[in-house]
Amino acid sequence: MSESILIVEDEETLRESLRRIFLKEGFIVDTADSAERGIQLVEENLYDVIITDIILPGMDGIEMLEQVKEQNPDQIFIVVTAFASLDTAVKALRAGAYDYIMKPIIHEEIKQVVRNAITQKNLQRENVILKREIKKHYDFSSIIGESPAIKELISEIKKVADTRSNVLLLGETGTGKELFARVIHHNSSRREMPFVPINCSAIPENLLESELFGHVKGAFTGAVSSKKGLLEEADGGTVFLDEIGDIPPYFQVKLLRVLEDQELRPVGSTKSKKIDFRFITATNRDLQDAVKSGDFREDLYYRINVITIKLPPLRERREDIPLLLNHYLEKYAHEVGRRGKRFSPEALSLLVSYNWPGNIRELQNVIERAVLISEGDEIREEHLPESITKTDSFLDESLTREMTIEEYTRSFIIKFQHVYGEQELAEKLGITRKTLWEKRKKWGIKRPASPSVTNSDK
Ligand SMILES: Nc1ncnc2c1ncn2[C@@H]1O[C@H](COP(=O)(O)OP(=O)(O)OP(=O)(O)O)[C@@H](O)[C@H]1O
Ligand SMILES: [Mg+2]
Repeated sequence: MSESILIVEDEETLRESLRRIFLKEGFIVDTADSAERGIQLVEENLYDVIITDIILPGMDGIEMLEQVKEQNPDQIFIVVTAFASLDTAVKALRAGAYDYIMKPIIHEEIKQVVRNAITQKNLQRENVILKREIKKHYDFSSIIGESPAIKELISEIKKVADTRSNVLLLGETGTGKELFARVIHHNSSRREMPFVPINCSAIPENLLESELFGHVKGAFTGAVSSKKGLLEEADGGTVFLDEIGDIPPYFQVKLLRVLEDQELRPVGSTKSKKIDFRFITATNRDLQDAVKSGDFREDLYYRINVITIKLPPLRERREDIPLLLNHYLEKYAHEVGRRGKRFSPEALSLLVSYNWPGNIRELQNVIERAVLISEGDEIREEHLPESITKTDSFLDESLTREMTIEEYTRSFIIKFQHVYGEQELAEKLGITRKTLWEKRKKWGIKRPASPSVTNSDK
């Protein structure tokens, strides 16, 4: 795509020589001999860059710039000025010109200035697109799952997202605590403000206070300058305190005070600052237990725990496994330019019946790796890690938990309905298809859309 440029210059020789320079550079070039004519053209066309002389008969270049910018503040202007009127050039910059060029015009110089302007414009555009991408990424649909558990959680966070309420996210590793925190933030009125994730267990205990609250110069040895704390960075936005279960008792007290007063005092400072943020916390520890044993302050627990969201482990919502497998297969296959990959029936049966102790993160990693190492279209058993191929987690679970026949039947249906067809599933359980249908109805199990997982049938 070629770029377009408008040249506004009353002096004919200069106007024509600028036209030739930029035509040669591959631009679409329009010219005008006055600001009035220039404005007319701007109303009819879009220009990437406008070069205008400042001194023109009638309206001058700066007035033109001001008028055009009123309609389109992002329009890039480069002004041309005589050496004698450097002051006017400065005025033009203040009015929003991108740069100025002095007469006599040096070809290389003006080409360079225009190139810089266009690079910057493209960068800005990419930034806007990038921001939009990120936002898109965290709407409610970025949470994958159709199990009743996930549906309920989504409807719950829809209700609380746009409130100030503190949210506590509980769940094993890899169950999506951070994802949920981001989705909540991006669906609140704070979405344009920062989301600041802080992993409490990654910060040394003695630095927690200064990292989170900031410090003033000289507050302690090594504090050679003042530093803003992470909480202050989140002013107006959302703080995501991860691994909150790991913070030491002294810091629990300080944090409680910040939450109660909505203000914080940087280390070494005598003044407190008011700040406004929403608090989302997460932990994979049993906080209630920690409260009972005295490791976690009860008052802080109630403060952060206005709304609790419990993320179930993947093995408790097995219906979602095929969906996630499908999603990540498509995603990673697309990333490496290998569409049309699918799981072999054996690999699929191992994947859907595996226990996934590392939850969705583990599933992601397994699929990413399998996509990379499988050369053909099919992901087979040999592309899966031993943890999956060498254990029979279903059997393990049913033996260790001493399930009743009813429980066993129920888990068997949930686990294997994505692997076997209806007839085969019923036969394996020694029941009729009608009984299978009745049991599903009784337990509210949704029958999977057949045929089961591939990445081409969507
Ligand atoms: N329901 C879901 N749908 C799609 N992707 C998910 C879902 N839940 C989690 N993920 C993805 O799984 C990965 C792990 O999730 P996340 O980092 O949110 O887990 P976590 O609970 O914070 O884990 P940890 O306790 O280990 O920090 C992320 O890439 C996340 O996008
Ligand atoms: Mg996390």
